[in-house]
Amino acid sequence: MKIDVVLSPPEIDLLPQRDLKNTTAVVFDVLRATSTIVTALAHGVAEIFPVRTIEEAQSLKARMPGAKLGGERHGDKIDGFDFGNSPLEYREIANAQIITTTTNGTIALRACEHAREVIAGALLNLGAIAKHVLNTEPAELLLVCAGTFRDLAFEDVLASGMLCSRFPKGDLTDSAQTALAVFEQHKRDLLGALRSSQNGRVLISKNRDDEVRWCARVSTFDVLGVLQNGAIRPLRT
Ligand code: MLT
Repeated sequence: MKIDVVLSPPEIDLLPQRDLKNTTAVVFDVLRATSTIVTALAHGVAEIFPVRTIEEAQSLKARMPGAKLGGERHGDKIDGFDFGNSPLEYREIANAQIITTTTNGTIALRACEHAREVIAGALLNLGAIAKHVLNTEPAELLLVCAGTFRDLAFEDVLASGMLCSRFPKGDLTDSAQTALAVFEQHKRDLLGALRSSQNGRVLISKNRDDEVRWCARVSTFDVLGVLQNGAIRPLRT
């Protein structure tokens, strides 16, 4: 199995033109979009619709009035939305439908929606992802690091490297080898690594270290969020 890693947002922009018909894509936005998606699905949220813009979210809401609006801009809840993008907000809304837009995570998810399979990945469900990939044996595994605005996000590369480490016989590209090396360097203190990242430092500065700690919990949930036809729904492994 070929394993490749998309390290940063400028590379994500090119994904719609990439042939992904034999590819399983795993999108990592550890702080916090995909961690929030995994947390929500693990707590019974029925489906999550990732959209690119606030306007798209409001337009979809008009067609789905029972759905709740979530997401962030600059890390904070969007005016008029029901929820922000903290995973801790999504633990007591079982059966809800959520429409969400975030700065990077939802963009990255939609950029690879033409892949054979698209999974919302986090440290929270890392083991479940590894088990699913081992069972389905895709020709290519593409790990997409959502990033922060236009920059690489350290925590996303770290999580991608951790997943690479689960496939020692994988055919790793140089990007994947790079992600693996980052993980090997920091695997003894993942929480410390998350806290040292740009996103981690910003969250801590906003008194949100509890969210960083939550997102650093490895393989806590055996649930995958699989994106199909515009909605992310739970796939139990
Ligand atoms: C993103 O999607 O860019 C991040 O998850 C932003 C955040 O949650 O603060």
